[in-house]
Amino acid sequence: MNAIDDKDFGTPARESATLVTLEIDGVAVTVPAGTSVMRASAEAGINVPKLCATDSLEAFGSCRVCLVEIEGRKGYPASCTTPVEPGMKVRTQTPKLADIRRGMVELYISDHPLDCLTCPTNGNCELQDVAGLVGLREVRYKKGENHLELKKDESNPYFTYDPSKCIVCNRCVRACEETQGTFALTIDGRGFDSRVAAGQNEAFMESECVSCGACVQACPTATLTEKSVIRIGVAEHSVVTTCAYCGVGCGFKAEMKGSEVVRMVPWKDGSANHGHSCVKGRFAWGYATHKDRITKPMIRKQISDPWQEVSWDEAIAYAAGEFRRIQQKFGRDSIGGITSSRCTNEETYLVQKLVRAAFGNNNVDTCARVCHSPTGYGLKQTLGESAGTQTFDSVMQADVIMIIGANPAAAHPVFASQMKRRLRQGAKLIVVDPRTTEMVQGAHYRADYHLKLKPGTNVAVIDALAHVIVTEGLLKEDFIAERCDLKSFGDWKAFVSRPENSPEAMADVTGVPADVLRGAARLYASGGNAAIYYGLGVTEHAQGSTMVMGIANLAMATGNVGRLGVGVNPLRGQNNVQGSCDMGSFPHELPGYRHVSDSTVRAEFEAHWGVSLNAEPGLRIPNMFEASLDGSFRGLYVQGEDIVQSDPNTQHVADALMAMECLVVQDIFLNETAKYAHVFLPGSSFLEKDGTFTNAERRISRVRKVMPPKAGYADWEVTQLLANALGYPMNYGHPSEIMAEIAALTPTFRGVSYEKIDRQGSVQWPCNEQAPDGTPIMHVEQFVRGKGRFMITKYVATDEKVTQRFPLILTTGRILSQYNVGAQTRRTENVHWHGEDRLEIHPHDAEERGIREGDWAGIESRSGQTVLRATITENVQPGVVYTTFHFPESGANVITTDNSDWATNCPEYKVTAVQVMPVTQPSEWQKNYQRFNRQQLELARTEESGA
Ligand code: SF4
Ligand code: SF4
Ligand code: SF4
Ligand code: FES
Repeated sequence: MNAIDDKDFGTPARESATLVTLEIDGVAVTVPAGTSVMRASAEAGINVPKLCATDSLEAFGSCRVCLVEIEGRKGYPASCTTPVEPGMKVRTQTPKLADIRRGMVELYISDHPLDCLTCPTNGNCELQDVAGLVGLREVRYKKGENHLELKKDESNPYFTYDPSKCIVCNRCVRACEETQGTFALTIDGRGFDSRVAAGQNEAFMESECVSCGACVQACPTATLTEKSVIRIGVAEHSVVTTCAYCGVGCGFKAEMKGSEVVRMVPWKDGSANHGHSCVKGRFAWGYATHKDRITKPMIRKQISDPWQEVSWDEAIAYAAGEFRRIQQKFGRDSIGGITSSRCTNEETYLVQKLVRAAFGNNNVDTCARVCHSPTGYGLKQTLGESAGTQTFDSVMQADVIMIIGANPAAAHPVFASQMKRRLRQGAKLIVVDPRTTEMVQGAHYRADYHLKLKPGTNVAVIDALAHVIVTEGLLKEDFIAERCDLKSFGDWKAFVSRPENSPEAMADVTGVPADVLRGAARLYASGGNAAIYYGLGVTEHAQGSTMVMGIANLAMATGNVGRLGVGVNPLRGQNNVQGSCDMGSFPHELPGYRHVSDSTVRAEFEAHWGVSLNAEPGLRIPNMFEASLDGSFRGLYVQGEDIVQSDPNTQHVADALMAMECLVVQDIFLNETAKYAHVFLPGSSFLEKDGTFTNAERRISRVRKVMPPKAGYADWEVTQLLANALGYPMNYGHPSEIMAEIAALTPTFRGVSYEKIDRQGSVQWPCNEQAPDGTPIMHVEQFVRGKGRFMITKYVATDEKVTQRFPLILTTGRILSQYNVGAQTRRTENVHWHGEDRLEIHPHDAEERGIREGDWAGIESRSGQTVLRATITENVQPGVVYTTFHFPESGANVITTDNSDWATNCPEYKVTAVQVMPVTQPSEWQKNYQRFNRQQLELARTEESGA
């Protein structure tokens, strides 16, 4: 538990080796040079009143409430804008200062509604606090011209803007600029008429605002206030936890009234977010109490039967009985499990343990199969560890930022804000993306090079970049000589030097002009610290693993690994996708990425778990589907994952699930997969359990329970019940005990404990004897595998070819307001921003087909057909169309194919050859889906109402 309010030091902390000592109210204070007098005072426990200052923003100096006296100086300088000086003597409390401050606050209050008792932030308002601090007792001004009748802007679903309470302190404007980087707000008008305005004096919802909440957080009055606070009132306690959406892993304070969330406030001490947030983590938590939550276990014999609500005991006994029956009939390997990247490390660990120890096979896989499995493979091969190399903060030391196949502004928004801040400071930018995303150009930044490649040609681009670096003598020879395997380097150098890998030779393949590519290569290799950030636009390809290795090659060749400001940084999609991989969710790896065939490793687990383990890797998700269709795989336990919506070739997945005899789904909603299930085990949201998530920086952070599980159990407890019912005993009393077991069995986690995480706030693995406090930057002295290994990355064109019949390439991605399959965000007000998936198409291609903005467009691939409404935009290039996959009825994965990465089977979501044509009605698949969906919802309702 933490106090609700963090101390506000008024201005940001400064880092400096030079320390300055001064005297404040007779107390000697020593602070780093550059610190403001206000902050120095606050650090000494002396609080100078303030209104326009807050420590998340640079000082502005407008309110004049924070004046102080400084010996030898004339007048009354503002303490927030005055830096400390050695020997300075400051007085913060004198009768004269009290007088001036009271006068200033009186002016503010004279134009304020003074409805404090009924104000939503009564008791949590800085203006109220300051009025008390300065001893304001009366307002002498007569009621004159004022702003008290100004209308509220209620357009944003999550917060209101009540201009009658605005003191024009500019904090919101600065938060939108400095913290978020959106520049949506201005102060409109002058003097008395000045007011905060969104965009061109528009409603917030019509402006550029992306609803990150930074302005609401910064506002010292009730002018910008969360609607949840207006509805419920201010909180009475708070609990620090971690966002359950994306791989940034923002820390939040869940502000609570009893067990009801009042608001989620980004945690100032969160090492991944430093007090910032995005619309999802900040506001879109209402799904946790949505009426669609299923809180009773249910079973049914066949998927055409109505669901029957049963007790937990019955449901667990039924599932365990079915699994054992299937194994007896079809053999030990006929069942398996899928872990979730949305669940905690502890829960994921337990599911893989259940599969290996209780099912007795290695048929466990995870959704990382469909996103970042090539990262695991590619980085392990080259650098020796399956994870990103940096902290997010490292970007602030980068001189060149190269973003490949990622759109952090949509998928990793808080990190994108940090990256944009660095770009505004002057870092150079290279974007490799078939689309013109927000990362190519935005407020006060613009990519120096945008390599607008054809989808599916990443490897050709990386080889051409390497070609330039090698042939133009831009290699970091001393780094390579000292740190890398020279034989593999020699082979790679010879390979990339070949003329067929030159930008000129590759230009036709990639669509990137040779001079643009050469410029980007030169900048990356010689522009100072260069950092690569990449996403699913790299991994979700037939050559996903090859591309990851190509990225690592490039970083090693230019010496851009092993220190701040550089590195190879996979931007992990889901909150705990790093963790689910770390925890041994893959069929060939035990926790800590150790192969199941390693008898020494197996022996350790066997001793601890008291079973003998299978040395053969189990089935990957696509192989499970194949095995189901050929009759050898008959039962599956899926925790917190929606494979029907998220995996490619939906019809194939549905057929495979329908062929199963027992599909057990554990989730908070009746998701698309659950519609094919025989047992439904109600899941728990992140607010209902303890545990840990690991973000894209390898940072392990605590998830803390703020309310009891709606269905009675946290997810880890349900897995434990299932294990016990299967005859394999599990007796954990708390997730901390599971973490203790993980630490005991996993060398990179050896030093991790809840106690350490609580003490440090978070821990980045590896954390062990060599790195007791964790490892912010990896491969510092040497690579984890010893010498960095260069891999040959030959470009091979995907089998997914455009033809006359399928002349366009469809590529997929995400948008800011929705998350993954949308099960959570679709059940929040975020649908105001994105209520349906749309097909983006270039005006050229649209015109050729007679498609206009908003028309229904039929999309047909070799796998299937679907229909979406069209958005005509030049953000996509001619020949390329784009969509998101947040709504099940869109059927985006009905059209994606079975093609996958050669090494890991990660599906090639990013390249599907399609034809697009105008249509007037939904596709056959969509009509069938609607019918099936209606039936399934009906079957779930029947028993609920009868129960
Ligand atoms: S919510 Fe965020 S983006 Fe919108 S105005 Fe406020 S700070 Fe700017
Ligand atoms: S809306 Fe709030 S933060 Fe913005 S200027 Fe007004 S009082 Fe200050
Ligand atoms: S950036 Fe990611 S982790 Fe942070 S609040 Fe948004 S969704 Fe949550
Ligand atoms: S707090 Fe210093 S001038 Fe406003």
